[in-house]
Amino acid sequence: MGKFEELVRARRSIRTFDGKGISDEHLKRIEAYMQDVPNPYGIHVEFKLLHAGQDHLTSKVINGTDLWIGAKVKKVPHAEEAFGYSFEEFALFCQSLGIGTTIIAGTMDRPAFEKAMQLAADEVMLCVTPIGYPAEKMGVKEKLMRTGISADKRADFDKIFFKDAYGNKLAASEAGACEKALEMLRWAPSAVNKQPWRVVVAGEQVHFYEKHSKGYISELGDLQKIDIGIGIKHFMGEVEEEGLKGSLVIEDPHLETPEDVEYIATFRFTK
Ligand SMILES: Cc1cc2nc3c(=O)[nH]c(=O)nc-3n(C[C@H](O)[C@H](O)[C@H](O)COP(=O)(O)O)c2cc1C
Repeated sequence: MGKFEELVRARRSIRTFDGKGISDEHLKRIEAYMQDVPNPYGIHVEFKLLHAGQDHLTSKVINGTDLWIGAKVKKVPHAEEAFGYSFEEFALFCQSLGIGTTIIAGTMDRPAFEKAMQLAADEVMLCVTPIGYPAEKMGVKEKLMRTGISADKRADFDKIFFKDAYGNKLAASEAGACEKALEMLRWAPSAVNKQPWRVVVAGEQVHFYEKHSKGYISELGDLQKIDIGIGIKHFMGEVEEEGLKGSLVIEDPHLETPEDVEYIATFRFTK
């Protein structure tokens, strides 16, 4: 198994931490890493280390850590996808150090976090995450929450990935060079585990779509576009690991799709 796949397969949201904080060495590495976490959109995502005690930060779903990472981005087109991509890249870096995260957009005292992030009028703080070492045992609340949203499950490959036309099932065995990359995307985290990503593979082109669920668009933006950015990170992380070449472009092929499905971007493989 490649290194990227190992990270993706080992990752799950951590909501119960061991209460011991983070080693100085790991904290230094995290602070260095978060200075520059790029994404294919070229949109800067600013990360900040936050201390719960200092800034009165609370979340009902998290126990056993006082350390948080917030991130913010300018309100520009594609801010959500760019944010999701960079935030997941950061979360996977934490995973590589044995540090747990949970991407949180809803279940926290948002005003307190936004204040701590010194949010300007033209910026949005889409998500935050606690950081720390996972506790040996999951909390009862955490277990119940995971069961409630089937957090250990994902939609079948051929329900969400298509060949040439939207709705035309793609079996994993037919996916060729992108099989593993799509599998990594399939295991990405998403808000309420809704997995809004849909993909049409057409030759060298891999078109990413968002299947909208009701209630995810607010004044913050479209939360499910964060999910798509996360999914694209998982896809491109595996592509990179395998040494395949290509880039992300926004060129809508105007394929026929259901009304609640929106085109987001295309990964184009090159030789
Ligand atoms: C954009 C986004 C927002 C999320 N918001 C919350 C949240 O507010 N509270 C929470 O407990 N989990 C939140 N999650 C975590 C998801 O519930 C979790 O990733 C999903 O259920 C899959 O579980 P896993 O991460 O353990 O694989 C969020 C995830 C994403 C991607």
